[in-house]
Amino acid sequence: MSNADKFKRYTVTAALPYANGPKHIGHLAGAYIPADLYARYLRLSGKDVVFVCGSDEHGTAIPNQAIKEGSTPQAIIDKYHVLNKESFEKLGISFDIYHRTSAPIHHETAQDFFRVLDKKEVFTIQTSEQYFDDNAQTFLADRYIIGTCPKCGFDGAYGDQCEKCGSALSPEELINPTSTLTGNKPVLKATKHWYLPMDRYENWLKDWILKGHKHDWRASVYGQCKSWIDGGLAARAITRDLDWGIDVPAADAEGKKLYVWFDAPIGYISATKQWALDHGKDWEPYWKAQDTKLVHFIGKDNIVFHCIIFPIMLHAHGEFILPESVPANEFMNLEGDKMSTSRGWSIEMHEYLHDFPTRVDELRYYLTAIAPETADSEFTWKDYQARINNELVAILGNYVNRVFVLMHKYFDGKMNTPLTTLTDQHLHTQLGVLYDEIGASFEAYKFRQAQQLVLDVARLGNKYLTDKEPWKTFGEQPEAAREALHECVLLIGHLATLMQPFMPETAQKLFRMLQLKESYQFNEAIVFEAGHQLNQPELLFQKVEDEIIERQIEKLNAKKASMETPKQSADIAPAKPAVSYDQFSEMDIRVGTIVAAEKVEKTQKLLKLTIDTGIDTRTVVSGIAEHYAPEAIIGQQVSILVNLAPRELKGIVSEGMILMAENAEGVLCFVTPSTAMPTGSTIR
Ligand code: MF3
Ligand code: ZN
Repeated sequence: MSNADKFKRYTVTAALPYANGPKHIGHLAGAYIPADLYARYLRLSGKDVVFVCGSDEHGTAIPNQAIKEGSTPQAIIDKYHVLNKESFEKLGISFDIYHRTSAPIHHETAQDFFRVLDKKEVFTIQTSEQYFDDNAQTFLADRYIIGTCPKCGFDGAYGDQCEKCGSALSPEELINPTSTLTGNKPVLKATKHWYLPMDRYENWLKDWILKGHKHDWRASVYGQCKSWIDGGLAARAITRDLDWGIDVPAADAEGKKLYVWFDAPIGYISATKQWALDHGKDWEPYWKAQDTKLVHFIGKDNIVFHCIIFPIMLHAHGEFILPESVPANEFMNLEGDKMSTSRGWSIEMHEYLHDFPTRVDELRYYLTAIAPETADSEFTWKDYQARINNELVAILGNYVNRVFVLMHKYFDGKMNTPLTTLTDQHLHTQLGVLYDEIGASFEAYKFRQAQQLVLDVARLGNKYLTDKEPWKTFGEQPEAAREALHECVLLIGHLATLMQPFMPETAQKLFRMLQLKESYQFNEAIVFEAGHQLNQPELLFQKVEDEIIERQIEKLNAKKASMETPKQSADIAPAKPAVSYDQFSEMDIRVGTIVAAEKVEKTQKLLKLTIDTGIDTRTVVSGIAEHYAPEAIIGQQVSILVNLAPRELKGIVSEGMILMAENAEGVLCFVTPSTAMPTGSTIR
């Protein structure tokens, strides 16, 4: 029995991206495309598969972004969940569900998971001194604190993770820790947390990974796990002192949240539950049956979480299966530099889709062709152009086009004998070999290779056509020409079949041109009845002209420059992404008048203002005490955002926000109508 038959069903996961921003094509190449290829391959092989993903909506990444955008965590996740979900859809990533960790079913699932481990006394509870930001009045977990990585020296490592070397860290390990909220040096303060004592699972991990997966896991994944385990594992806190996240369901855990890396992988399970509910299925076999194969697709910065921490959780829980494989990819660089959204050196999924809405399969093809499966790889626009023009247009498109043109020219596009198998022995054997090799490549997560082999089908066809020269034989031996072209048409059917995981839209186009049904399973017979009529050929791939890629390179440089400007000249803030008129008009801004003002006790910066908005009289807390004396601003006209959700500052509920102009030195002034306007006038 081959390995592939051991399993009755498949659970395929792709890392849940943080909903703190758009995701770029490096993420796509790292996890989402390979996961999609694998899921599509399994479905086309007739397997029972669920492919889950969704937004990771907790952790400090979210409120951090809210601070940057002057928004709220809820608004941030709502915005980026939708943006990323839509981008994945347009890119043909065929998730069975794209869930979100803010969903109640996920909160319950994660809390239940915690309760089970708590009840089994898996956790230890410890009180320790942790970094605290006095000004922000919060503990500095995870992305609220950065410093130098003790493992690799990278100086932007987060409190829980170094994204450069992939190490999982604790804040106390950081060298030169700094608060990302205020830039302050943190102080130490005692707090209690729940810990997962990973050290107790060392022997179990040695058996499971070091002995069990030495030969089937990717060398890079196995190597990272080995160095982790050999280095000795320590207890890791799985709760946090934060406002944003899932409440810790335990007595005496007031104000504490689950650590995001505790709840997020459980998101795979809750996504499966939701999918099962939506489709009248049972989720449990997908996570609990021994004959289910669980595969996690991730980037290399997530290895320790998926190979060590989450498996410990699953094992400690006791009811769950473990991943069979975690085919993590390395990173994809862009034009000679690391991809980074914050530095502007990236191509975001939605940006590509905006510029090239009709070139989705081309991107899937190129990202697969250069997938960083064994080493970091590099996206360049020149190479993108070369691969499309030299491979998709010149080999694949050309083959299909030659066959269709000849079929229409000589035989009016009609197949006049029934046909289901290739009669040419060489073609038949070669195609069989390619099917086998493509299947084996998929099973080994070698998608680059699988795709090259699909292209070999077109190469095979081109060579056959050139050898048979139907344009020469047609005059004297029309039957020979017909037979050769029929072989070629059938080969296109197989090409389309095998192409489906990689370029689903192109495959559909081919089936349409062939007048066949929409999709074929990998082992399904393709049958042409006598008299079968082909359609006219459609354009499969458009050549990429020089100016297209020149414009992209310019655009990339301009984006990077626009991000760098403020750092260099330190005066003008970078432009924010565009908003629609509708988004803008949701804001209700009025001319208000300050009727009372006083300092907020025990603060440096805050004034409590009473504002007449024309609609009502309300309280607004504003950080302007260092710029204005309270008594000097009574009667001042201001601009006030009146429909900002109320929030509490130092125990005072602030209902709205005063608009201020600010220069690079931090000098503030009111934004006031240039002539006195009635209080309550709208600003738009
Ligand atoms: N949000 C994480 C990241 O972007 C990945 C989470 S994967 C999951 O790095 F397993 F936790 F879901
Ligand atoms: Zn590091």
